[in-house]
Amino acid sequence: MKNVPTLQWIGSVDGHLRMIDQTKLPVELVEIDCRDVEAVCEAIKSLRVRGAPAIGIAAAYGVCLGVHNVLGADQTTFFDRLHEAVDRLAASRPTAVNLFWALERMKQTASRFRNGPTAEIAAALLTEAQAIHEEDRQMCRAIGRHGAELLGDRQGVLTHCNAGGLATADYGTALAVIFAAAEAGKTLRVFADETRPLLQGARLTAWELQRRGIDVTVICDNMAAQVMREGRVQAVVVGADRIAANGDAANKIGTYGLAVLAAAHEIPFYVAAPSSTFDLSIASGTEIPIEQRDPREVTHGFGRQTVPDGVAVYNPAFDVTPAELIAAIICERGVIRPVNRETIAAMLA
Ligand code: MRU
Repeated sequence: MKNVPTLQWIGSVDGHLRMIDQTKLPVELVEIDCRDVEAVCEAIKSLRVRGAPAIGIAAAYGVCLGVHNVLGADQTTFFDRLHEAVDRLAASRPTAVNLFWALERMKQTASRFRNGPTAEIAAALLTEAQAIHEEDRQMCRAIGRHGAELLGDRQGVLTHCNAGGLATADYGTALAVIFAAAEAGKTLRVFADETRPLLQGARLTAWELQRRGIDVTVICDNMAAQVMREGRVQAVVVGADRIAANGDAANKIGTYGLAVLAAAHEIPFYVAAPSSTFDLSIASGTEIPIEQRDPREVTHGFGRQTVPDGVAVYNPAFDVTPAELIAAIICERGVIRPVNRETIAAMLA
């Protein structure tokens, strides 16, 4: 099995970003090269790269691409180009806070080196992007270690969307918990929601789990209640795109419904996310911007029209699960339980 990194910087400061084109999975494992900001923005918007941490890493490298042509330029030209790149990347997708967190780190790095030659600032930007990338690897491993203890041997685990290696620098957040539990010798049966409309669960999560030899069964999203009632699921683990100060967590559309179902069946509902996914500047989930996507994703999914012409479609890409439905948040620093403003502040302090 060829181990292809989700994201990879090729070369040195004038290099480029290589990524798996996730829109082609599971049928084709192909990589694409992004050589300018526009290509990175397009890849983020069209979900060639997706998942909150991966979007942040891609955007950080996008900033490096943005200053390619101004490496020897004067400060004003360099910083104008930098800010233009940051603004374009920030406009690519609105919900995952990791994107804005990574861009902020890049801006701060540039201003720390403000008085040096522009070639030095560019080198510092690449070092920072690589640090963001490397830290995310370590965060995945730590989340796995903390979360694995919450799963028991021979349990059924339900997950939604894709919070695995394709969404991060290593082996994921929600899926890290599953992979680490399996590494610890636990046998799990994973149910992957197919995750309408873009099928990240069926296409990506099932692909990753199968490649790593984990028992995975895909279900349509509307089957979760029945699967729970049949006693096949003992835990739900999902990722997050942005977590407010009170623990309300935005994740792929359908996550909130799963949390309600889990509560009705007394099944613990866990969110796994690194500290870069928390947005302590917002008090609650009502302030999280929810991305609205093209209706054609619903009406013409994967090449076939399934809705009559002219019918209205509503296509929010994310929803917000209230903190009270979340049994614990697993982050790289430990397990936050119960989930509230105080426990989150204490863990992230
Ligand atoms: O629209 P997507 O595919 O980017 O949505 C991704 C999710 O909702 C993931 O669960 C989330 O970003 C966490 S990834 C570790």
